Amino acid sequence: MSAPEKLYEGKAKILYSTDDPDILLSCFKDDATAFNAQKRGVITDKGRMNCAIATHLFQKLAAMGIPTHFIDQPAPNQMRVKAVKIIPLEVVVRNIAAGSLSQQTGLALGTPLPQPMVEFYYKNDALGDPLLTRDRLFLLNLATPDQVEQLQTLALRINQILIAFFHQCQITLVDFKLEFGLDAQEQILLADEISPDTCRLWNQLEADPEQRVMDKDRFRRDLGNVESAYQQVMERVLAQAV
Ligand SMILES: Nc1ncnc2c1ncn2[C@@H]1O[C@H](COP(=O)(O)OP(=O)(O)OP(=O)(O)O)[C@@H](O)[C@H]1O
Ligand SMILES: [Mg+2]
Repeated sequence: MSAPEKLYEGKAKILYSTDDPDILLSCFKDDATAFNAQKRGVITDKGRMNCAIATHLFQKLAAMGIPTHFIDQPAPNQMRVKAVKIIPLEVVVRNIAAGSLSQQTGLALGTPLPQPMVEFYYKNDALGDPLLTRDRLFLLNLATPDQVEQLQTLALRINQILIAFFHQCQITLVDFKLEFGLDAQEQILLADEISPDTCRLWNQLEADPEQRVMDKDRFRRDLGNVESAYQQVMERVLAQAV
């Protein structure tokens, strides 16, 4: 047995090696950051809550035929995952205008989009994760045309599944960010996490635009009650069958 080695500490998770080189242990932290880590804080119990939510969503997606890195959840804030080579793209799917889309286009926050939209951002903190064009993505060799096609298809399929799932939770899926990686066979797997840190989620039982926010925007925008919002998401998600 070799001792687990810390391979990477990010803002939200720590990755450790395991005895099996194809398997990593992902430990979810309570640390919260926003605006490319210019704002920092702690959301009590976030690690456990996000791990539980992500586990449930990965299981749901796997049951619906989406290839994911998820293996199992050995502890409340720990996930065993297949090791992948992360494709350096943040794949963002949007159903309703919010965040940078509203800021950069002038579309009012909350405007429903005529159809879901997939955007690719360059996963590069030093550059501030900029929005890419297809030409820039290919210029930088971030993925092949065939991979981009697969990512687009997977992202839209994941969106369909998650919209329906969250709707059963009386939650509206506004937008979310995905990361994908390549396994040893160069197959694309959904990786990283899906949680209130990486999604915009609006409570369908609240009409007030600030009260309805159930995701990291509560932390970003200092709306208060961050922990109870995450707790609500977790309870509603875990109450649904996989
Ligand atoms: N199955 C996987 N195999 C290898 N790396 C993974 C896997 N799943 C996620 N990762 C990577 O592990 C890291 C998770 O840590 P975290 O989410 O805290 O990072 P981060 O602070 O968001 O920073 P960044 O994503 O820019 O590295 C990310 O870099 C993510 O891309
Ligand atoms: Mg991350």
